[in-house]
Amino acid sequence: MHISDTLRYTTIPLADGSGAIPAVGFGTLIPDRAAARQAIKTALEVGFRHLDGAEAYRNEDVVGDAIKEAIAEGTVRREDLFITTKLWNNNHRPERVTPAVEASLGRLQLDYLDCYLIHTPFAFEPGDEQYPKGEDGRPAYDTGVTLLETWRAMERLVEEGKCRSIGLSDIRLDQVREIVANARIKPAVVQVECHPYLPEWELLDFCSKHGIVLLAFAPLGHGMEPRLTDDPVLKAIAQRVGKTPAQVALAWAVQRGTAFLTTSTHPDHIREFRHRCSARRGLAGDPGRYRDKHPFERRRGHRPAGVHSAGEMKGKPQLGPCRNVANLVRFTFEKDVSESTPFLR
Ligand SMILES: NC(=O)c1ccc[n+]([C@@H]2O[C@H](COP(=O)([O-])OP(=O)(O)OC[C@H]3O[C@@H](n4cnc5c(N)ncnc54)[C@H](OP(=O)(O)O)[C@@H]3O)[C@@H](O)[C@H]2O)c1
Repeated sequence: MHISDTLRYTTIPLADGSGAIPAVGFGTLIPDRAAARQAIKTALEVGFRHLDGAEAYRNEDVVGDAIKEAIAEGTVRREDLFITTKLWNNNHRPERVTPAVEASLGRLQLDYLDCYLIHTPFAFEPGDEQYPKGEDGRPAYDTGVTLLETWRAMERLVEEGKCRSIGLSDIRLDQVREIVANARIKPAVVQVECHPYLPEWELLDFCSKHGIVLLAFAPLGHGMEPRLTDDPVLKAIAQRVGKTPAQVALAWAVQRGTAFLTTSTHPDHIREFRHRCSARRGLAGDPGRYRDKHPFERRRGHRPAGVHSAGEMKGKPQLGPCRNVANLVRFTFEKDVSESTPFLR
């Protein structure tokens, strides 16, 4: 991982050789279109260079307008940006993949994507309906296409220059394994929900071994109750190091080797990234050294109550409260963040 002197300029190289992904990303899942446009523009102004969108968010055109305006105003250049969007579930049939990415590019007003992800591993019936339903009112899944067939179509997009990297989202470890085992172009990025209450250690281990960037969404817990940023242990650490709980949680995400996507419509929250977080080379620049130091790695096999593996989370709601939250946060943060988080120095 390349560590610059600020968290916001940290990048992680992509194994496919296409470049590097900024570790700090801004998500565009903001239902209100005017708020989304303003938030994206503020995010670009304060230094975010990595934007995450999706066909399913129905606002790629707003993202495109905000980017276009920011470029016209001289805030950013296209080549400085890392733009991701996602293929929705009703477009998994291989013949629908190229039209889907072309439609996204049109709405985003871009010539290419930096990264294109399959939004979820399951397919809906092909068609115009975003959430097709069967006669029984349940989601109409498409069992006539496999994830690998969709992946093959994604590989062709890279060859055609429509996107530089491809990846997976909302996916389990066993499904990532299958794609990695069979892919001609391996996933560069795997985007999953990931935060201190859902650390996804096994998936992170697998991704690290295969040079895949784990891109954590909901790094602040998606604003769900109980709020991660209200966690007493996290707050205590934040107070001790003179940062906000959100900054501590985000620094933790990057220190362990993940990139993250956060979202806010609150200008002060977005601007927290203005604050310099000086990063010392060394610990975070050398994942091996960090790994040796991590309590989970030192005590391999030990998993404190409340820590779920990807496997354990299968079929479980991912945003629910977990047991012994304070204990988990203390175990995860206390030593690392208070003593050795370079991003918070
Ligand atoms: N692949 C997928 O299926 C998937 C699913 C969900 C999300 N995503 C992507 O990930 C992005 C981020 O997800 P997320 O919105 O769940 O991320 P998040 O950062 O965990 O949650 C955002 C929430 O945190 C609050 N917040 C943001 N900055 C804060 C700060 N500095 N202090 C305190 N609270 C703060 C926001 O409220 P305020 O607005 O008040 O700041 C908002 O309620 C999405 O926009 C989307 O691009 C992908």
